Amino acid sequence: MSKADKTPIKGVTPGKGARISSSMTPTKGTTPSKSPAKPQAVSSSEGEDEPAKPSRTPRARKVYAVSSSEDEDEITTPSRISKARKSKVSPLKSPKDSPARSLRHRDQIKKTDRYAPGVPAAHSNLTPRRSARISMSPSTPSLRQKVLMANTPRSSLPPLKDEDESEDEFVTPSKAPKSAKKKLEMTPTTPSSSRKVGHGFLSPVVADREGRAPSTPSSALGIARAQLQVSTLPTSLPCREKEFNDIKSFISRKIQDGTGGCMYISGVPGTGKTATVHTVVKTLQKMAEDGKITSFDFVEVNGLRMTEPRQAYVRIWQILSKNKVTADQALKHLETKFLGKPKRCTVLLVDELDYLCNRRQDVIYNILDWTTKRYSKFSVLTIANTMDLPERTLKGKVTSRMGLTRLVFQPYTYQQLEEIVLNRLDGCKAFHADAVQLVARKVAAVSGDARRALDICRRSTEILELEGRPAVSVLDIQKVLTQIFAGSRVQAIKNCSLMAKLVLRAIRDEVLRTGVEETTVAYIHPQLVSICALEGKRELTVTDILRICSNLADSGLIFAEKERKDINRKISLNISTDDIHYAIDC
Ligand SMILES: Nc1ncnc2c1ncn2[C@@H]1O[C@H](COP(=O)(O)OP(=O)(O)OP(=O)(O)O)[C@@H](O)[C@H]1O
Ligand SMILES: [Mg+2]
Repeated sequence: MSKADKTPIKGVTPGKGARISSSMTPTKGTTPSKSPAKPQAVSSSEGEDEPAKPSRTPRARKVYAVSSSEDEDEITTPSRISKARKSKVSPLKSPKDSPARSLRHRDQIKKTDRYAPGVPAAHSNLTPRRSARISMSPSTPSLRQKVLMANTPRSSLPPLKDEDESEDEFVTPSKAPKSAKKKLEMTPTTPSSSRKVGHGFLSPVVADREGRAPSTPSSALGIARAQLQVSTLPTSLPCREKEFNDIKSFISRKIQDGTGGCMYISGVPGTGKTATVHTVVKTLQKMAEDGKITSFDFVEVNGLRMTEPRQAYVRIWQILSKNKVTADQALKHLETKFLGKPKRCTVLLVDELDYLCNRRQDVIYNILDWTTKRYSKFSVLTIANTMDLPERTLKGKVTSRMGLTRLVFQPYTYQQLEEIVLNRLDGCKAFHADAVQLVARKVAAVSGDARRALDICRRSTEILELEGRPAVSVLDIQKVLTQIFAGSRVQAIKNCSLMAKLVLRAIRDEVLRTGVEETTVAYIHPQLVSICALEGKRELTVTDILRICSNLADSGLIFAEKERKDINRKISLNISTDDIHYAIDC
């Protein structure tokens, strides 16, 4: 190969060899006589480069004509370039290979010989990509099949060697031959091996699919959202260390002494009362497992989840004995257990105590009474929202058995709320520091409820993820706060009369208690009675409730059965319980 063949044409960009060869512009200093063998090589390359593109412009047609003939030549012989190889290999008996066609091709080749003085140089400009394409072309299954269609026995074909030779002959010393060689090595040589390659491509896809179902979120926002879930309890509760220690020392003392007692815990919603007690119990259970303290039984009842206070007996006995019996039977069993000489200590958590305090207050009286017996090993932790519930609502004999151990959970300050949220985020960069502080300040100003602070932060991450931005800013928080507090539903509730708000609260409490959306006026009446009693308001009559329900239905805040106007009238909320909270409790 002459030096001129290998020298790239000045001004020719890589990959444009085909265009140059088609334009057939003589290159300076290059004459056809100087490079007699090159036109064949060029036509070969052109034919490979544009086999599937029938040219439309006249200039391109010239190229196509050459390519076409060369394609056929290529199919006929395993080597596309070398004359010596052509002479060795027998011609292909293809339907296209008619004598007339062959003649035309010969003419075209001659024509190319005449008009392609600059072509070899253009070809020498092949980019690595282009040359790779040339050498890789037979690896395409269809082309490969075409090659195999040739009558030449496969064993006599030295395709790899030929390809290498052709590359050596026509490509300038660049990285192209190497990469082409690599690709050739990867080229499947038999159908079976090509199937293997296919399988090889499938397996990573399956692995990828398996890997695409991560149980944990990967984005910073996703992680933050998971951490901000109210139900996700952190291993330690920041800002409640004192309360944690008070409750823990109270129970562990009772367990160690083998005595009974009661602690009354109060605080506004979301101040961590239930969470702290749960953490204490878990810690003590772990200590009992490790043999550090005497093991004990733990039972929890929630007044809001009881259909009536006596269900508490059923629940307590069911947990202790794993048997479900009627309330009367459960009471008998419990009296036998707690009035006698129990062997093991039992710790009872009565959450939402307010809802167990009916008129008779017999259930709470019995439970507290068991703690005061001579051999009692029964400790009770009672939780309610109001600090003065024992004095204001409970009867004297009940309050007397409650004892004087009280613990008040103060609403969180903004610094505490900020610490709680940041502790949950655990270094995750999903929030600007100002944004967390804004949430903390807003919530602390209204209620000091950690649940609300976590909710607002979580809601902002959801909105942000929809918009595809990475971190929550102060503006995002303001948007969420506006949505929450200035929403039309919240405003509508805020504009209701005091009595209507009480009815909405009673419906919400009943819905939360039963977990069923639909209720009746008959069911919300007792809820209203206790709310009015707790808040010192005048008790509403059934007629009042029915009238208020009609007004609320007219304003669209609740759904009320149209046909019925009596105490069994079915009603359900047309707003979320959260909206009621934001409008009434915040
Ligand atoms: N100190 C804290 N650190 C982290 N999370 C907290 C903390 N305090 C409260 N929370 C979160 O707030 C949620 C509500 O707390 P919790 O249920 O204990 O409140 P509560 O005082 O019992 O409210 P309610 O009176 O409405 O029952 C908890 O599930 C917890 O996720
Ligand atoms: Mg609670």
